[in-house]
Amino acid sequence: MSTYIVLLGPPGVGKGTQAKILAERTGLAHISSGDLFRENIKNQTELGLRAQTFINKGELVPDDITIGMIRERLSLPDCAAGAILDGFPRTPPQADALQALLAEFGGHVHRVPFITASEEVLVERLSGRWTCRAQGHVFHEKFNPPKQPGVCDLDGSELYQREDDKAETVQRRIRVYFEQTASLVSYYKEQGLLVEIDGAQPIEQVTEQLFAALK
Ligand code: AP5
Ligand code: MG
Repeated sequence: MSTYIVLLGPPGVGKGTQAKILAERTGLAHISSGDLFRENIKNQTELGLRAQTFINKGELVPDDITIGMIRERLSLPDCAAGAILDGFPRTPPQADALQALLAEFGGHVHRVPFITASEEVLVERLSGRWTCRAQGHVFHEKFNPPKQPGVCDLDGSELYQREDDKAETVQRRIRVYFEQTASLVSYYKEQGLLVEIDGAQPIEQVTEQLFAALK
């Protein structure tokens, strides 16, 4: 049976950081909706052009576009054993669509780690984040600095600051999270799948707590 894990939590809490570690250690595919959108924007695809205006304003991309993109990604062979979903679902219709999609593939959501931290922590993390151009590896100038400033330790590509990490867009993203995504906490709690993880701890401790929750 395939294993699907949904990482839930506000912007900047560390979903991407932990998803990459989990994927590496479990061999499951890492699916980040944000990374997929950024890849499409970089390649100037039609989907990327449609998504870009929403992303730059800190708003959610419409459900039909997002669900279509994830359906396609989940159908690829590297997801046969399952996947770690980072940033999807983000609305109740997306969560329902995921359930239907996985049922089609003969699977279901296995566990939903909900990573939490205060708004102050989120803002500090996003304002100091540097992202790798080639593969979206993330660093933080204070908490997880690259060996050489501006260069990715893992693939040598350039590090940049995301357009939507500007202070006013970060505030908008956090607001959108509370308005449109936070209700998924009770959605998954009611299904008995939610496990709360204290995301304010250092990266290694969050990983430890995550693995304990997934056993
Ligand atoms: P997306 O890319 O998913 O952004 P997000 O959810 O806002 O989350 P982030 O990527 O900003 O944060 P993260 O939790 O991954 O944290 P990270 O590990 O990088 O989405 C971007 C946009 O795309 C959305 O606004 C929306 O427009 C669109 N979109 C995406 N999915 C969508 C969907 N499903 N539906 C509709 N629209 C969608 O960590 C942050 C920083 O903190 C890093 O610098 C890291 O090094 C550092 N850090 C991490 N953990 C720790 C720790 N424990 N201690 C100290 N520092 C840490
Ligand atoms: Mg991320």
